[in-house]
Amino acid sequence: MEEKQMMAVLQGRRSIRRFSAQPLARELLTQLVVAACWAPSGSNAQAWQYVAVDDPEKLARLTAFLPGVQAPPPALICLCLDRERETARAGQLGEEVLGVMDLSMAAQNIMLYAHCLGLGSCAVRGFHPTVVRTALALPPQVTPELIIVLGYPAQQPKAPARRPLEEVLHWNVY
Ligand SMILES: Cc1cc2nc3c(=O)[nH]c(=O)nc-3n(C[C@H](O)[C@H](O)[C@H](O)COP(=O)(O)O)c2cc1C
Repeated sequence: MEEKQMMAVLQGRRSIRRFSAQPLARELLTQLVVAACWAPSGSNAQAWQYVAVDDPEKLARLTAFLPGVQAPPPALICLCLDRERETARAGQLGEEVLGVMDLSMAAQNIMLYAHCLGLGSCAVRGFHPTVVRTALALPPQVTPELIIVLGYPAQQPKAPARRPLEEVLHWNVY
């Protein structure tokens, strides 16, 4: 891929919160998780677990607790952290910091790859952990950290403005 194409992918991905009714093939969801698994992780801990949800009833139950997502999406992936594995592989720093960083990188892989496949996605952190834990039958050591809703876009939102570089880029000193 040329560098301009790469930048176009980065700038073209939008948070999509409305989807067409078209279902997502499991093969696509699987490929998104493959993309996630190629993210870097601190100490190569790979303490991530992914729960892909395509059952309409479960999607409706979860979406009821996702403010911002008005209707159930065709699918979602819940990115979870296996805290036992994270601590064993990367210690306290892993459990407190690295694990969530790793999942953030995995999330970006999913969203960018979804965009390349013509899918829309939105990261959602505004959920009730207990509701998600119960609905997905997560074991105690596994915590839900982020949900990514997925589907074929039914909207094309304008890009929210980014802060000017002068506000965020510093050279050598702050
Ligand atoms: C960690 C994280 C949590 C987010 N949580 C929510 C959320 O709970 N609900 C929601 O509607 N959007 C959520 N978003 C999406 C942001 O609102 C969105 O990325 C931001 O407005 C920029 O828009 P863009 O993704 O189209 O560039 C979240 C994004 C990130 C990275």
